[in-house]
Amino acid sequence: MAQLSATLYTSHVPAIGVAIDLARDDDPYWKPVFDGYAATRRWLAAHTPDVVVMVYNDHATAMDYSMVPPFALGVSDRFEIADEGWGRRPVPDPLGHPALARHLVHRLMANGFDMAVLHHPKVDHGLSVPLSLGFGRVSAWPCRVIPLMVNVVHAPVPTAARCLALGQALGAAIRSYGEELNVQVWGTGGMSHQLQGPGAGYINSRFDRWFLDELMARPDALASLSHEAFVEQAGTEGAELTMWLVARGAQMVFQADGQRFDELHRHYHVPASNTAVGHLLLAQRVEEKA
Ligand code: DHB
Ligand code: FE
Repeated sequence: MAQLSATLYTSHVPAIGVAIDLARDDDPYWKPVFDGYAATRRWLAAHTPDVVVMVYNDHATAMDYSMVPPFALGVSDRFEIADEGWGRRPVPDPLGHPALARHLVHRLMANGFDMAVLHHPKVDHGLSVPLSLGFGRVSAWPCRVIPLMVNVVHAPVPTAARCLALGQALGAAIRSYGEELNVQVWGTGGMSHQLQGPGAGYINSRFDRWFLDELMARPDALASLSHEAFVEQAGTEGAELTMWLVARGAQMVFQADGQRFDELHRHYHVPASNTAVGHLLLAQRVEEKA
């Protein structure tokens, strides 16, 4: 049976990827950002999963704005890192896990989520920056990756409640995979930021800190927020935070089974580029054998 060993939540600011690629770790601007991920990197190195289901939004890379499905899943065995306009990041292409990805598509469809299936999507900073934050500079990623894309960029977008429900269906789908597999679900994007319009540069630390508290304690309450409430409180791009609810929903399924998850690490820092960086690591408690 597949296990959910952790859920991880992180911003995916593209400039962080550039700073990692240029080894700017000790630069005074970036050091406080990267210091906040050090404990998580150590934990991941000791608890590397077989597969990460990466919940993120495509930023008009795999799909242009002529057609953006609410939810899409990548089923190929390899995902090419995209050139987003400033050259391809010097990071390896993530390898997929087609067998689990196809199982997830089938189970999600059987449970009310008609996923768009992407056979050869290119992947952008939404996927590659979280991988770099978690695993550092590597010549090959230490696990397989399944991209799960959520439309948060082109109205109308799925509600927070729908994202939480997708996560619950995802958790059940992972749990029903017959092979032994260590899976993690990472929710990415956010925290508060706005890249455009009169409110560009907007950040709301009060909301972000409340969101971090509520994500652990009351995910249902977050799921009742409207998309407008996310935009008002977290900024137009802060609405990416609805994607964190997909990972949290997956964890709820395993918690309902009696598994306990501990908050191993939390980090919050303003700003990185235009964004409030937030990060949480929730790991399954492994009971000591008596
Ligand atoms: C920034 C943040 C994002 O989430 C993104 O997708 C692009 C840019 C930024 O802060 O610059
Ligand atoms: Fe983004």
